[in-house]
Amino acid sequence: MRPDEGTRIMNYAFTEMLNNAIDHSGGSRATVEVWANGSEIAARVGDDGCGVFARVREGFGLASDLEAAAELTKGKRTTWAARHTGEGIFFTSKVVTLFRISANELRLSIDNDRDDYALGTSPVHVGTIVEMRLALPPARTLRSVFEEFTDDDLRFSRSRPRIELFATGLTFVSRSEARRVLTGMTGFDDIDVDFAGVDDVGQGFVDELMRVWPSQNPGIRIHPINMNDAVAFMVARAERAIRS
Ligand SMILES: Nc1ncnc2c1ncn2[C@@H]1O[C@H](COP(=O)(O)OP(=O)(O)OP(=O)(O)O)[C@@H](O)[C@H]1O
Ligand SMILES: [Mg+2]
Repeated sequence: MRPDEGTRIMNYAFTEMLNNAIDHSGGSRATVEVWANGSEIAARVGDDGCGVFARVREGFGLASDLEAAAELTKGKRTTWAARHTGEGIFFTSKVVTLFRISANELRLSIDNDRDDYALGTSPVHVGTIVEMRLALPPARTLRSVFEEFTDDDLRFSRSRPRIELFATGLTFVSRSEARRVLTGMTGFDDIDVDFAGVDDVGQGFVDELMRVWPSQNPGIRIHPINMNDAVAFMVARAERAIRS
């Protein structure tokens, strides 16, 4: 019997997160829970290792665990490139209805029905806990999510970093903030820069993102998405400057 789409999605999500605990946590125990009723399938995978945000922070030499959380929205950010590609969290977090990953006293929550990303505090200070819920019937299929971010050869070619998670101050003004968003992104052909939740951006940030970085990385296309009027105005200005 072919498994239905909900089972297929949760098989994928659960396997990816358990493999992460085994391969990356450095811990000695994993705990898994799965439950289901007619309206949802939920799963929880926990380990007693170093915590996902600390692992990513150390692996990439980042300044904080908060920066590590933002980094996970890029995809292809693996700390073990010889054996991994950095796909698990990216695709899993986009295909389930609710994805929450807690570690190092931080929690990244992604609600795909509301397109809501939130970074907050968590009591989890040992290991990593991943909680996933899939409302039935699933709103997305595994195939549709893979197709969104892969090219005709099924290569993971498109990314969608969530800018609001990269905030250090109140707004995005500086070139260095834009460079942080784009670090490690040269393996993609297309980058959807997701401005949801961002109120305002500065000229330096936009110029770096839309003109300077693309000119240094020819062939990679930047697509700003989910802009409010203020952000759209600054982006349009930068685009005019490129053409003139
Ligand atoms: N349970 C965990 N404990 C510690 N670090 C983790 C854990 N899960 C993920 N990570 C860190 O997050 C990174 C990204 O995980 P992700 O699953 O997206 O990619 P990957 O496992 O490296 O590659 P792939 O999933 O394609 O095999 C990992 O490289 C690792 O540094
Ligand atoms: Mg993985």
